[in-house]
Amino acid sequence: MSPKRLFVFDRYRLDEQERQLLLGSQVVPLPPKVFDLLAVLVQNAGRLLPKQDLLDRVWSGVAVEEGSLTRGISSLRQVLGSTADGQDHIQTVSKRGYRFIPQVRETTDDELDGTRLGIPPPPSVFATASVDFVGREADLVQIRDVWQRAKDGRHQLVLVAGEPGIGKTRLSLEFARSGAAEGTTVLMGYSDEENLVPYQPFVECLSWYFRHCPEVELRGQLAVIGGGGELAPFVPELRNRIPDLPSPLPMDPEGQRYRLFEAVAGMLAVASRTQPMLLLFDDLHWADRPTLLLLRHVMRSAHMASFAIVATYRESELDRAHPLAEMLITLRRERGITRVALRGLKITHVKALVNSIVGPNAPSQLPQVVLDSTDGNPFFATEMLQHLKETGAISSLSGMTGRKIDVGDIGLSEGIKEVIGQRLSRLTEACNRVLSIASIVGREFGATLLEAVADLHDDQLLDALEEATRAQLIRESLEVNGRFEFMHALIRETLYSELSSPRRVRLHRRIADAIERLSQSKPNPPLAELAYHFSQAASADVVDKAIDYAIRAGDRAADALAHEEAARRTRTVEPRSTRARCSPASPGFAAD
Ligand SMILES: Nc1ncnc2c1ncn2[C@@H]1O[C@H](COP(=O)(O)OP(=O)(O)OP(=O)(O)O)[C@@H](O)[C@H]1O
Ligand SMILES: [Mg+2]
Repeated sequence: MSPKRLFVFDRYRLDEQERQLLLGSQVVPLPPKVFDLLAVLVQNAGRLLPKQDLLDRVWSGVAVEEGSLTRGISSLRQVLGSTADGQDHIQTVSKRGYRFIPQVRETTDDELDGTRLGIPPPPSVFATASVDFVGREADLVQIRDVWQRAKDGRHQLVLVAGEPGIGKTRLSLEFARSGAAEGTTVLMGYSDEENLVPYQPFVECLSWYFRHCPEVELRGQLAVIGGGGELAPFVPELRNRIPDLPSPLPMDPEGQRYRLFEAVAGMLAVASRTQPMLLLFDDLHWADRPTLLLLRHVMRSAHMASFAIVATYRESELDRAHPLAEMLITLRRERGITRVALRGLKITHVKALVNSIVGPNAPSQLPQVVLDSTDGNPFFATEMLQHLKETGAISSLSGMTGRKIDVGDIGLSEGIKEVIGQRLSRLTEACNRVLSIASIVGREFGATLLEAVADLHDDQLLDALEEATRAQLIRESLEVNGRFEFMHALIRETLYSELSSPRRVRLHRRIADAIERLSQSKPNPPLAELAYHFSQAASADVVDKAIDYAIRAGDRAADALAHEEAARRTRTVEPRSTRARCSPASPGFAAD
Protein backbone atom coordinates (compact mmCIF):
# COMPACT_ATOMS: atom_id res chain seq x y z
CA MET A 1 0.00 0.00 0.00
CA SER A 2 1.45 3.41 -0.91
CA PRO A 3 2.09 5.74 2.03
CA LYS A 4 -0.46 8.42 2.84
CA ARG A 5 0.20 12.09 2.06
CA LEU A 6 0.21 14.24 5.18
CA PHE A 7 0.55 18.00 5.56
CA VAL A 8 2.25 19.08 8.75
CA PHE A 9 1.89 22.63 10.07
CA ASP A 10 2.22 24.22 13.47
CA ARG A 11 1.11 21.50 15.94
CA TYR A 12 -1.20 19.84 13.41
CA ARG A 13 -1.23 17.15 10.76
CA LEU A 14 -3.77 17.10 7.97
CA ASP A 15 -4.47 13.63 6.58
CA GLU A 16 -5.92 14.10 3.12
CA GLN A 17 -6.93 10.48 2.59
CA GLU A 18 -8.66 9.90 5.93
CA ARG A 19 -10.01 13.48 5.80
CA GLN A 20 -8.83 14.13 9.31
CA LEU A 21 -7.05 16.89 11.13
CA LEU A 22 -4.87 15.58 13.94
CA LEU A 23 -3.44 17.25 16.97
CA GLY A 24 -0.92 14.76 18.35
CA SER A 25 -2.81 11.47 18.18
CA GLN A 26 -6.22 13.14 18.67
CA VAL A 27 -8.61 13.76 15.82
CA VAL A 28 -9.76 17.37 15.74
CA PRO A 29 -13.41 17.19 14.76
CA LEU A 30 -14.35 19.28 11.72
CA PRO A 31 -17.51 19.27 9.60
CA PRO A 32 -16.75 18.01 6.05
CA LYS A 33 -16.96 21.39 4.30
CA VAL A 34 -14.79 23.04 6.91
CA PHE A 35 -12.25 20.25 6.44
CA ASP A 36 -12.33 20.80 2.66
CA LEU A 37 -11.77 24.51 3.17
CA LEU A 38 -8.78 23.86 5.42
CA ALA A 39 -7.35 21.33 2.95
CA VAL A 40 -7.48 23.88 0.10
CA LEU A 41 -5.89 26.58 2.28
CA VAL A 42 -3.15 24.29 3.59
CA GLN A 43 -2.26 22.97 0.16
CA ASN A 44 -1.92 26.55 -1.07
CA ALA A 45 -0.16 27.89 2.01
CA GLY A 46 1.39 31.32 1.52
CA ARG A 47 -0.77 32.12 -1.55
CA LEU A 48 -3.62 34.59 -1.57
CA LEU A 49 -6.77 32.64 -2.45
CA PRO A 50 -9.60 34.80 -3.82
CA LYS A 51 -12.97 34.23 -2.14
CA GLN A 52 -14.59 33.09 -5.36
CA ASP A 53 -11.81 30.52 -5.88
CA LEU A 54 -12.44 29.09 -2.43
CA LEU A 55 -16.20 29.03 -2.96
CA ASP A 56 -15.77 27.24 -6.29
CA ARG A 57 -13.34 24.67 -4.94
CA VAL A 58 -15.05 23.85 -1.66
CA TRP A 59 -18.68 24.11 -2.74
CA SER A 60 -18.22 23.15 -6.40
CA GLY A 61 -21.52 22.98 -8.28
CA VAL A 62 -23.57 24.28 -5.35
CA ALA A 63 -24.92 27.83 -5.15
CA VAL A 64 -23.79 29.20 -1.80
CA GLU A 65 -23.33 32.65 -0.44
CA GLU A 66 -20.16 34.28 0.77
CA GLY A 67 -21.56 33.88 4.30
CA SER A 68 -20.84 30.12 4.15
CA LEU A 69 -17.19 30.89 3.44
CA THR A 70 -16.96 33.50 6.19
CA ARG A 71 -18.53 31.09 8.67
CA GLY A 72 -16.16 28.32 7.56
CA ILE A 73 -13.12 30.59 8.06
CA SER A 74 -14.34 31.69 11.45
CA SER A 75 -14.92 28.04 12.56
CA LEU A 76 -11.39 27.21 11.43
CA ARG A 77 -9.93 30.13 13.37
CA GLN A 78 -11.82 28.97 16.43
CA VAL A 79 -10.68 25.37 16.10
CA LEU A 80 -7.03 26.07 15.22
CA GLY A 81 -6.49 28.80 17.82
CA SER A 82 -3.33 30.81 17.33
CA THR A 83 0.02 29.55 16.04
CA ALA A 84 2.94 28.80 18.35
CA ASP A 85 4.11 32.42 17.88
CA GLY A 86 0.68 33.85 18.70
CA GLN A 87 -0.46 34.66 15.11
CA ASP A 88 -3.67 33.74 13.31
CA HIS A 89 -3.34 30.77 10.96
CA ILE A 90 -5.47 32.46 8.34
CA GLN A 91 -4.96 36.01 7.17
CA THR A 92 -7.88 38.01 5.75
CA VAL A 93 -6.84 40.21 2.83
CA SER A 94 -9.52 42.85 2.75
CA LYS A 95 -12.07 42.49 -0.10
CA ARG A 96 -9.76 39.97 -1.85
CA GLY A 97 -9.50 36.70 -0.05
CA TYR A 98 -7.57 34.62 2.47
CA ARG A 99 -4.05 33.36 2.93
CA PHE A 100 -2.84 30.43 5.05
CA ILE A 101 0.18 31.73 6.95
CA PRO A 102 2.08 28.88 8.71
CA GLN A 103 4.83 26.91 7.00
CA VAL A 104 3.43 23.65 5.68
CA ARG A 105 5.57 20.53 5.24
CA GLU A 106 4.36 17.72 3.05
CA THR A 107 5.27 14.24 4.27
CA THR A 108 4.03 10.65 4.37
CA ASP A 109 2.79 8.50 7.22
CA ASP A 110 5.84 6.27 6.73
CA GLU A 111 7.95 9.13 7.98
CA LEU A 112 5.81 9.71 11.03
CA ASP A 113 5.25 7.11 13.71
CA GLY A 114 1.80 5.53 13.21
CA THR A 115 -0.30 6.59 16.16
CA ARG A 116 -3.80 5.10 16.40
CA LEU A 117 -6.45 7.30 14.84
CA GLY A 118 -9.73 7.58 16.72
CA ILE A 119 -13.22 7.16 15.30
CA PRO A 120 -14.20 10.59 13.94
CA PRO A 121 -17.38 12.03 15.46
CA PRO A 122 -20.36 12.13 13.07
CA PRO A 123 -20.86 15.53 11.39
CA SER A 124 -24.24 16.07 13.09
CA VAL A 125 -22.34 16.57 16.34
CA PHE A 126 -21.02 19.77 14.80
CA ALA A 127 -24.30 21.22 13.55
CA THR A 128 -23.66 24.94 13.85
CA ALA A 129 -25.88 27.05 16.06
CA SER A 130 -26.38 30.74 15.44
CA VAL A 131 -26.34 31.61 19.14
CA ASP A 132 -23.46 31.05 21.57
CA PHE A 133 -24.08 28.47 24.25
CA VAL A 134 -25.01 30.04 27.59
CA GLY A 135 -25.58 28.79 31.14
CA ARG A 136 -26.22 25.13 32.07
CA GLU A 137 -23.09 25.01 34.22
CA ALA A 138 -24.69 22.89 36.97
CA ASP A 139 -26.15 20.44 34.45
CA LEU A 140 -22.78 20.06 32.77
CA VAL A 141 -21.12 19.39 36.13
CA GLN A 142 -23.69 16.67 36.79
CA ILE A 143 -23.12 15.08 33.39
CA ARG A 144 -19.34 15.26 33.81
CA ASP A 145 -19.60 13.40 37.13
CA VAL A 146 -21.59 10.66 35.49
CA TRP A 147 -19.13 10.56 32.60
CA GLN A 148 -16.28 10.04 35.03
CA ARG A 149 -18.05 6.96 36.42
CA ALA A 150 -18.54 5.68 32.88
CA LYS A 151 -14.85 6.17 32.09
CA ASP A 152 -14.04 4.13 35.19
CA GLY A 153 -15.83 1.18 33.62
CA ARG A 154 -19.34 1.56 35.04
CA HIS A 155 -21.57 2.26 32.05
CA GLN A 156 -24.15 4.99 32.57
CA LEU A 157 -27.39 6.34 31.17
CA VAL A 158 -28.13 10.06 31.43
CA LEU A 159 -31.70 11.06 30.67
CA VAL A 160 -31.94 14.73 29.73
CA ALA A 161 -35.57 15.70 30.14
CA GLY A 162 -37.56 18.85 29.55
CA GLU A 163 -40.15 20.66 27.47
CA PRO A 164 -39.72 21.16 23.68
CA GLY A 165 -37.09 23.79 22.88
CA ILE A 166 -35.65 23.94 26.40
CA GLY A 167 -32.17 22.98 25.17
CA LYS A 168 -31.85 19.20 25.65
CA THR A 169 -30.21 18.52 22.32
CA ARG A 170 -27.94 21.54 22.55
CA LEU A 171 -26.69 20.63 26.01
CA SER A 172 -25.96 17.06 24.92
CA LEU A 173 -24.15 18.26 21.80
CA GLU A 174 -22.06 20.74 23.76
CA PHE A 175 -21.03 17.95 26.10
CA ALA A 176 -20.32 15.62 23.18
CA ARG A 177 -18.18 18.23 21.45
CA SER A 178 -16.01 18.69 24.51
CA GLY A 179 -15.70 14.90 24.79
CA ALA A 180 -14.73 14.57 21.11
CA ALA A 181 -12.04 17.20 21.56
CA GLU A 182 -10.53 15.03 24.32
CA GLY A 183 -10.51 11.92 22.16
CA THR A 184 -13.73 10.27 23.35
CA THR A 185 -15.48 8.20 20.71
CA VAL A 186 -18.76 10.02 20.08
CA LEU A 187 -21.65 8.32 18.29
CA MET A 188 -25.07 9.75 17.58
CA GLY A 189 -28.48 8.28 16.88
CA TYR A 190 -32.00 9.66 16.59
CA SER A 191 -35.54 8.49 17.01
CA ASP A 192 -38.16 9.82 14.65
CA GLU A 193 -41.84 10.06 15.30
CA GLU A 194 -42.80 7.49 12.72
CA ASN A 195 -40.01 5.04 13.60
CA LEU A 196 -39.21 3.97 10.10
CA VAL A 197 -36.04 2.13 11.15
CA PRO A 198 -36.31 -0.38 14.00
CA TYR A 199 -33.71 0.18 16.76
CA GLN A 200 -32.82 3.39 14.92
CA PRO A 201 -30.51 5.08 17.49
CA PHE A 202 -28.50 1.89 18.05
CA VAL A 203 -28.33 1.18 14.33
CA GLU A 204 -27.11 4.70 13.56
CA CYS A 205 -24.46 4.64 16.26
CA LEU A 206 -23.13 1.20 15.38
CA SER A 207 -23.22 1.84 11.62
CA TRP A 208 -20.94 4.82 12.10
CA TYR A 209 -18.67 2.83 14.38
CA PHE A 210 -18.42 -0.13 12.01
CA ARG A 211 -17.74 2.16 9.07
CA HIS A 212 -14.83 3.93 10.77
CA CYS A 213 -13.23 1.37 13.02
CA PRO A 214 -9.94 0.05 11.54
CA GLU A 215 -10.56 -3.44 10.17
CA VAL A 216 -7.98 -5.28 12.28
CA GLU A 217 -9.39 -3.75 15.43
CA LEU A 218 -12.98 -4.46 14.42
CA ARG A 219 -12.18 -8.11 13.67
CA GLY A 220 -10.51 -8.41 17.06
CA GLN A 221 -13.56 -6.98 18.83
CA LEU A 222 -15.98 -9.22 16.93
CA ALA A 223 -13.89 -12.25 17.86
CA VAL A 224 -14.21 -11.30 21.54
CA ILE A 225 -18.02 -11.29 21.30
CA GLY A 226 -18.11 -14.65 19.54
CA GLY A 227 -18.06 -13.60 15.88
CA GLY A 228 -20.78 -10.96 15.76
CA GLY A 229 -22.87 -12.73 13.08
CA GLU A 230 -26.07 -11.74 14.95
CA LEU A 231 -25.29 -8.09 14.21
CA ALA A 232 -25.36 -8.44 10.42
CA PRO A 233 -29.14 -8.21 9.84
CA PHE A 234 -29.31 -5.51 12.50
CA VAL A 235 -26.62 -3.23 11.01
CA PRO A 236 -26.17 -4.20 7.34
CA GLU A 237 -23.12 -1.90 7.22
CA LEU A 238 -21.16 -4.56 9.10
CA ARG A 239 -21.19 -7.10 6.29
CA ASN A 240 -19.81 -4.45 3.92
CA ARG A 241 -16.80 -4.11 6.20
CA ILE A 242 -16.45 -7.80 7.11
CA PRO A 243 -17.82 -9.85 4.19
CA ASP A 244 -16.82 -13.17 5.81
CA LEU A 245 -18.83 -12.53 8.98
CA PRO A 246 -20.15 -15.87 10.34
CA SER A 247 -23.86 -16.60 9.91
CA PRO A 248 -25.89 -16.59 13.12
CA LEU A 249 -26.86 -20.01 14.48
CA PRO A 250 -30.40 -21.07 13.53
CA MET A 251 -32.72 -20.44 16.47
CA ASP A 252 -36.28 -19.40 17.27
CA PRO A 253 -36.93 -15.62 16.90
CA GLU A 254 -36.92 -14.92 20.65
CA GLY A 255 -33.62 -16.74 21.07
CA GLN A 256 -32.18 -14.86 18.11
CA ARG A 257 -33.23 -11.61 19.62
CA TYR A 258 -31.65 -12.43 22.95
CA ARG A 259 -28.40 -13.17 21.14
CA LEU A 260 -28.67 -9.89 19.24
CA PHE A 261 -29.15 -7.94 22.48
CA GLU A 262 -26.17 -9.73 24.03
CA ALA A 263 -24.06 -9.02 20.96
CA VAL A 264 -24.89 -5.28 21.11
CA ALA A 265 -24.10 -5.11 24.84
CA GLY A 266 -20.88 -7.06 24.27
CA MET A 267 -19.86 -4.88 21.35
CA LEU A 268 -20.33 -1.66 23.32
CA ALA A 269 -18.34 -3.10 26.20
CA VAL A 270 -15.44 -4.28 24.04
CA ALA A 271 -15.32 -1.17 21.86
CA SER A 272 -15.41 1.21 24.83
CA ARG A 273 -12.46 -0.56 26.45
CA THR A 274 -10.16 0.81 23.74
CA GLN A 275 -11.50 4.36 24.02
CA PRO A 276 -14.35 5.57 26.26
CA MET A 277 -17.54 5.98 24.28
CA LEU A 278 -20.32 8.51 24.44
CA LEU A 279 -23.57 7.74 22.62
CA LEU A 280 -26.17 10.45 22.11
CA PHE A 281 -29.74 9.25 21.61
CA ASP A 282 -31.82 12.25 20.62
CA ASP A 283 -35.61 12.32 21.07
CA LEU A 284 -36.01 9.06 22.95
CA HIS A 285 -39.72 9.84 23.47
CA TRP A 286 -40.15 8.71 19.87
CA ALA A 287 -38.17 5.50 20.26
CA ASP A 288 -39.92 2.27 19.34
CA ARG A 289 -40.43 -0.49 21.88
CA PRO A 290 -37.58 -2.68 20.53
CA THR A 291 -35.13 0.22 21.03
CA LEU A 292 -36.25 0.66 24.62
CA LEU A 293 -36.01 -3.07 25.33
CA LEU A 294 -32.49 -3.13 23.91
CA LEU A 295 -31.56 -0.02 25.91
CA ARG A 296 -32.75 -1.69 29.10
CA HIS A 297 -30.86 -4.86 28.27
CA VAL A 298 -27.66 -2.95 27.58
CA MET A 299 -27.95 -0.97 30.82
CA ARG A 300 -28.58 -4.11 32.88
CA SER A 301 -25.71 -5.98 31.29
CA ALA A 302 -23.01 -7.16 33.67
CA HIS A 303 -20.14 -6.34 31.30
CA MET A 304 -17.55 -3.83 32.54
CA ALA A 305 -17.98 -1.09 29.99
CA SER A 306 -16.75 2.50 29.63
CA PHE A 307 -19.64 4.08 27.81
CA ALA A 308 -22.39 6.52 28.64
CA ILE A 309 -25.62 6.96 26.73
CA VAL A 310 -26.97 10.49 26.93
CA ALA A 311 -30.61 10.37 25.85
CA THR A 312 -32.91 13.36 25.49
CA TYR A 313 -36.68 13.21 25.75
CA ARG A 314 -39.62 15.60 25.84
CA GLU A 315 -41.31 15.19 29.15
CA SER A 316 -44.57 16.53 27.76
CA GLU A 317 -44.84 13.61 25.31
CA LEU A 318 -44.96 11.00 28.07
CA ASP A 319 -48.24 9.86 29.51
CA ARG A 320 -48.36 6.88 31.82
CA ALA A 321 -48.99 4.38 29.03
CA HIS A 322 -46.08 5.66 26.94
CA PRO A 323 -43.46 2.90 26.40
CA LEU A 324 -40.68 5.17 27.65
CA ALA A 325 -42.64 6.09 30.78
CA GLU A 326 -43.12 2.38 31.47
CA MET A 327 -39.44 1.73 31.00
CA LEU A 328 -38.45 4.62 33.25
CA ILE A 329 -40.58 3.13 36.01
CA THR A 330 -38.88 -0.25 35.71
CA LEU A 331 -35.43 1.35 35.66
CA ARG A 332 -36.07 3.81 38.48
CA ARG A 333 -34.20 1.98 41.17
CA GLU A 334 -31.31 0.75 39.07
CA ARG A 335 -27.81 2.06 39.41
CA GLY A 336 -26.10 3.94 36.61
CA ILE A 337 -29.14 5.98 35.61
CA THR A 338 -29.25 9.74 36.14
CA ARG A 339 -31.97 12.15 35.19
CA VAL A 340 -31.12 15.75 34.33
CA ALA A 341 -34.25 17.91 34.19
CA LEU A 342 -33.77 21.15 32.26
CA ARG A 343 -35.66 24.28 33.24
CA GLY A 344 -35.73 27.76 31.65
CA LEU A 345 -32.63 29.94 31.43
CA LYS A 346 -32.00 32.51 34.14
CA ILE A 347 -32.00 36.24 33.48
CA THR A 348 -28.19 36.48 33.12
CA HIS A 349 -28.30 33.88 30.38
CA VAL A 350 -31.26 35.49 28.65
CA LYS A 351 -29.18 38.69 28.69
CA ALA A 352 -26.38 36.80 26.98
CA LEU A 353 -28.84 35.52 24.36
CA VAL A 354 -30.09 39.05 23.75
CA ASN A 355 -26.54 40.27 23.44
CA SER A 356 -25.68 37.52 20.99
CA ILE A 357 -28.73 38.11 18.76
CA VAL A 358 -29.46 41.84 19.08
CA GLY A 359 -26.03 43.14 20.05
CA PRO A 360 -24.69 45.15 22.97
CA ASN A 361 -26.99 48.13 22.35
CA ALA A 362 -30.22 46.23 23.03
CA PRO A 363 -32.71 48.09 25.26
CA SER A 364 -31.90 47.27 28.87
CA GLN A 365 -35.42 46.08 29.67
CA LEU A 366 -35.52 43.62 26.79
CA PRO A 367 -34.03 40.57 28.60
CA GLN A 368 -36.60 40.77 31.40
CA VAL A 369 -39.46 41.15 28.92
CA VAL A 370 -38.20 38.13 26.96
CA LEU A 371 -37.76 36.10 30.14
CA ASP A 372 -41.29 36.95 31.34
CA SER A 373 -42.90 35.89 28.11
CA THR A 374 -40.82 32.78 27.36
CA ASP A 375 -39.99 31.43 30.83
CA GLY A 376 -36.41 31.28 29.65
CA ASN A 377 -37.10 28.64 26.98
CA PRO A 378 -34.10 29.24 24.68
CA PHE A 379 -35.87 28.22 21.51
CA PHE A 380 -38.81 30.49 22.20
CA ALA A 381 -36.53 33.34 23.33
CA THR A 382 -34.37 33.04 20.21
CA GLU A 383 -37.39 33.01 17.91
CA MET A 384 -38.84 36.05 19.70
CA LEU A 385 -35.63 37.98 19.33
CA GLN A 386 -35.28 37.08 15.65
CA HIS A 387 -38.86 38.16 15.12
CA LEU A 388 -38.30 41.47 16.88
CA LYS A 389 -35.14 42.07 14.91
CA GLU A 390 -36.79 41.29 11.59
CA THR A 391 -39.78 43.57 12.26
CA GLY A 392 -37.64 46.46 13.53
CA ALA A 393 -39.60 46.48 16.80
CA ILE A 394 -36.38 46.61 18.78
CA SER A 395 -35.34 49.99 17.43
CA SER A 396 -38.71 51.48 18.43
CA LEU A 397 -38.11 50.09 21.93
CA SER A 398 -34.89 51.99 22.27
CA GLY A 399 -36.88 55.23 22.26
CA MET A 400 -39.11 54.12 25.16
CA THR A 401 -37.69 55.30 28.40
CA GLY A 402 -39.20 56.18 31.73
CA ARG A 403 -41.77 53.39 31.88
CA LYS A 404 -41.70 49.63 32.11
CA ILE A 405 -41.98 48.04 28.70
CA ASP A 406 -44.96 45.77 28.37
CA VAL A 407 -44.95 42.59 26.31
CA GLY A 408 -47.83 44.11 24.30
CA ASP A 409 -45.55 46.98 23.18
CA ILE A 410 -43.53 44.62 21.06
CA GLY A 411 -46.02 41.93 20.16
CA LEU A 412 -44.55 39.34 22.48
CA SER A 413 -47.83 38.12 23.83
CA GLU A 414 -48.15 35.18 21.45
CA GLY A 415 -47.02 31.58 21.73
CA ILE A 416 -44.12 29.91 19.96
CA LYS A 417 -46.11 28.78 16.97
CA GLU A 418 -47.57 32.25 16.38
CA VAL A 419 -44.13 33.80 16.46
CA ILE A 420 -42.77 31.25 14.00
CA GLY A 421 -45.91 31.82 11.89
CA GLN A 422 -45.16 35.53 11.75
CA ARG A 423 -41.59 34.90 10.71
CA LEU A 424 -42.85 32.64 7.92
CA SER A 425 -45.34 35.22 6.73
CA ARG A 426 -42.47 37.55 5.86
CA LEU A 427 -41.06 35.06 3.35
CA THR A 428 -42.09 34.82 -0.30
CA GLU A 429 -44.97 32.60 -1.31
CA ALA A 430 -42.69 30.20 -3.18
CA CYS A 431 -40.51 29.83 -0.11
CA ASN A 432 -43.52 29.10 2.08
CA ARG A 433 -44.80 26.56 -0.42
CA VAL A 434 -41.48 24.75 -0.52
CA LEU A 435 -41.24 24.72 3.27
CA SER A 436 -44.79 23.39 3.65
CA ILE A 437 -44.03 20.51 1.31
CA ALA A 438 -40.76 19.89 3.11
CA SER A 439 -42.60 19.72 6.43
CA ILE A 440 -44.58 16.77 5.08
CA VAL A 441 -41.43 15.06 3.80
CA GLY A 442 -39.61 15.14 7.13
CA ARG A 443 -37.14 16.87 9.40
CA GLU A 444 -34.62 16.27 6.60
CA PHE A 445 -35.47 16.56 2.95
CA GLY A 446 -33.74 16.43 -0.42
CA ALA A 447 -33.90 19.10 -3.12
CA THR A 448 -34.56 16.45 -5.80
CA LEU A 449 -37.74 15.29 -4.11
CA LEU A 450 -38.95 18.85 -3.52
CA GLU A 451 -38.32 19.67 -7.16
CA ALA A 452 -40.42 16.70 -8.18
CA VAL A 453 -43.32 17.79 -5.97
CA ALA A 454 -43.25 21.59 -5.87
CA ASP A 455 -43.76 22.45 -9.57
CA LEU A 456 -40.94 24.96 -9.49
CA HIS A 457 -38.01 25.40 -11.84
CA ASP A 458 -34.62 24.43 -10.56
CA ASP A 459 -33.67 28.10 -10.07
CA GLN A 460 -36.88 29.01 -8.28
CA LEU A 461 -36.45 26.07 -5.93
CA LEU A 462 -32.87 27.02 -5.15
CA ASP A 463 -33.94 30.64 -4.56
CA ALA A 464 -36.61 29.46 -2.13
CA LEU A 465 -34.17 27.19 -0.30
CA GLU A 466 -31.60 29.98 -0.09
CA GLU A 467 -34.22 32.38 1.21
CA ALA A 468 -35.19 29.93 3.95
CA THR A 469 -31.53 29.28 4.76
CA ARG A 470 -30.88 33.02 5.08
CA ALA A 471 -33.88 33.31 7.39
CA GLN A 472 -32.33 30.52 9.50
CA LEU A 473 -35.34 28.26 9.20
CA ILE A 474 -33.45 25.49 7.44
CA ARG A 475 -29.79 24.59 6.93
CA GLU A 476 -27.85 22.51 4.45
CA SER A 477 -27.01 19.01 5.55
CA LEU A 478 -23.42 18.60 6.68
CA GLU A 479 -23.37 15.08 5.33
CA VAL A 480 -25.00 14.99 1.92
CA ASN A 481 -25.03 17.60 -0.83
CA GLY A 482 -28.48 18.71 -1.91
CA ARG A 483 -30.10 17.76 1.39
CA PHE A 484 -31.46 20.18 3.93
CA GLU A 485 -32.94 20.02 7.39
CA PHE A 486 -35.18 22.22 9.47
CA MET A 487 -33.23 24.23 12.02
CA HIS A 488 -35.58 22.89 14.63
CA ALA A 489 -38.32 20.30 14.91
CA LEU A 490 -40.66 23.02 16.19
CA ILE A 491 -40.36 24.97 12.93
CA ARG A 492 -41.41 21.90 11.02
CA GLU A 493 -44.20 21.18 13.46
CA THR A 494 -45.57 24.71 12.99
CA LEU A 495 -45.55 24.44 9.22
CA TYR A 496 -47.21 21.05 9.37
CA SER A 497 -49.92 22.14 11.75
CA GLU A 498 -50.76 25.12 9.53
CA LEU A 499 -51.75 22.86 6.63
CA SER A 500 -55.36 21.75 6.45
CA SER A 501 -56.04 18.00 6.55
CA PRO A 502 -57.10 17.71 2.89
CA ARG A 503 -53.95 19.54 1.85
CA ARG A 504 -51.74 17.26 3.90
CA VAL A 505 -53.41 14.24 2.43
CA ARG A 506 -52.85 15.54 -1.11
CA LEU A 507 -49.22 16.34 -0.45
CA HIS A 508 -48.56 12.95 1.11
CA ARG A 509 -49.93 11.39 -2.07
CA ARG A 510 -47.75 13.52 -4.34
CA ILE A 511 -44.71 12.84 -2.21
CA ALA A 512 -45.40 9.11 -2.19
CA ASP A 513 -45.73 9.08 -6.00
CA ALA A 514 -42.54 11.08 -6.39
CA ILE A 515 -40.55 8.82 -4.05
CA GLU A 516 -41.81 5.81 -5.95
CA ARG A 517 -40.77 7.35 -9.26
CA LEU A 518 -37.36 8.45 -8.02
CA SER A 519 -36.52 5.15 -6.40
CA GLN A 520 -37.72 2.94 -9.26
CA SER A 521 -34.26 1.77 -10.25
CA LYS A 522 -32.87 1.56 -6.71
CA PRO A 523 -32.13 -1.86 -5.23
CA ASN A 524 -33.42 -0.83 -1.77
CA PRO A 525 -36.44 1.44 -2.13
CA PRO A 526 -37.38 3.30 1.08
CA LEU A 527 -40.26 0.90 1.87
CA ALA A 528 -41.21 2.34 5.23
CA GLU A 529 -41.37 5.88 3.84
CA LEU A 530 -43.47 4.71 0.91
CA ALA A 531 -45.80 2.83 3.24
CA TYR A 532 -46.07 5.87 5.47
CA HIS A 533 -46.82 8.45 2.77
CA PHE A 534 -49.23 6.18 0.89
CA SER A 535 -51.09 5.37 4.10
CA GLN A 536 -51.35 9.08 4.91
CA ALA A 537 -52.60 9.74 1.39
CA ALA A 538 -55.82 8.14 2.58
CA SER A 539 -57.45 7.51 -0.76
CA ALA A 540 -59.06 4.34 -1.99
CA ASP A 541 -56.95 3.96 -5.10
CA VAL A 542 -53.71 3.66 -3.15
CA VAL A 543 -54.83 1.35 -0.36
CA ASP A 544 -53.24 -1.64 -2.08
CA LYS A 545 -49.96 0.15 -2.43
CA ALA A 546 -50.01 1.25 1.20
CA ILE A 547 -50.65 -2.34 2.28
CA ASP A 548 -48.04 -3.81 -0.03
CA TYR A 549 -45.30 -1.43 1.08
CA ALA A 550 -46.25 -1.82 4.74
CA ILE A 551 -46.00 -5.60 4.53
CA ARG A 552 -42.62 -5.40 2.83
CA ALA A 553 -41.42 -2.86 5.41
CA GLY A 554 -42.74 -5.17 8.14
CA ASP A 555 -40.76 -8.06 6.64
CA ARG A 556 -37.65 -5.93 6.73
CA ALA A 557 -38.32 -5.10 10.39
CA ALA A 558 -38.81 -8.78 11.18
CA ASP A 559 -35.50 -9.60 9.48
CA ALA A 560 -33.92 -7.08 11.85
CA LEU A 561 -35.53 -8.91 14.82
CA ALA A 562 -37.82 -6.00 15.72
CA HIS A 563 -40.93 -8.11 16.24
CA GLU A 564 -43.07 -5.42 17.86
CA GLU A 565 -42.23 -3.10 14.98
CA ALA A 566 -43.02 -5.73 12.36
CA ALA A 567 -46.41 -6.29 14.00
CA ARG A 568 -47.07 -2.56 14.32
CA ARG A 569 -46.31 -1.92 10.67
CA THR A 570 -48.59 -4.67 9.50
CA ARG A 571 -51.34 -3.41 11.84
CA THR A 572 -51.18 0.18 10.60
CA VAL A 573 -51.61 -0.39 6.92
CA GLU A 574 -55.07 1.00 6.50
CA PRO A 575 -55.22 4.60 5.26
CA ARG A 576 -55.64 7.10 8.06
CA SER A 577 -58.35 9.33 6.69
CA THR A 578 -60.26 9.11 9.92
CA ARG A 579 -57.30 9.89 12.10
CA ALA A 580 -55.49 12.65 10.26
CA ARG A 581 -52.58 13.59 12.38
CA CYS A 582 -51.70 17.00 13.67
CA SER A 583 -48.01 16.47 13.99
CA PRO A 584 -45.40 15.61 11.43
CA ALA A 585 -43.94 12.22 11.50
CA SER A 586 -41.76 10.95 8.72
CA PRO A 587 -38.06 11.39 9.36
CA GLY A 588 -37.05 12.14 5.84
CA PHE A 589 -36.49 10.47 2.59
CA ALA A 590 -33.72 8.32 1.38
CA ALA A 591 -34.45 8.23 -2.34
CA ASP A 592 -32.43 11.29 -3.41
N1 LIG B 1 -27.95 27.00 26.69
C1 LIG B 1 -28.21 27.49 25.48
N2 LIG B 1 -27.55 28.57 25.02
C2 LIG B 1 -27.82 29.07 23.80
N3 LIG B 1 -28.74 28.56 22.96
C3 LIG B 1 -29.41 27.50 23.36
C4 LIG B 1 -29.21 26.90 24.65
N4 LIG B 1 -30.02 25.85 24.77
C5 LIG B 1 -30.71 25.79 23.63
N5 LIG B 1 -30.35 26.76 22.77
C6 LIG B 1 -30.89 26.98 21.43
O1 LIG B 1 -32.31 26.89 21.53
C7 LIG B 1 -32.84 26.09 20.47
C8 LIG B 1 -33.59 24.92 21.07
O2 LIG B 1 -32.68 24.04 21.73
P1 LIG B 1 -32.74 22.45 21.54
O3 LIG B 1 -32.92 22.12 20.12
O4 LIG B 1 -31.57 21.90 22.23
O5 LIG B 1 -34.08 22.13 22.33
P2 LIG B 1 -34.69 20.71 22.67
O6 LIG B 1 -34.98 20.73 24.12
O7 LIG B 1 -33.81 19.65 22.17
O8 LIG B 1 -36.07 20.76 21.88
P3 LIG B 1 -36.94 19.55 21.26
O9 LIG B 1 -37.65 18.89 22.37
O10 LIG B 1 -37.90 20.21 20.33
O11 LIG B 1 -35.99 18.63 20.56
C9 LIG B 1 -31.66 25.71 19.61
O12 LIG B 1 -31.58 26.65 18.56
C10 LIG B 1 -30.47 25.83 20.52
O13 LIG B 1 -29.27 26.12 19.81
MG1 LIG C 1 -34.02 18.26 20.66
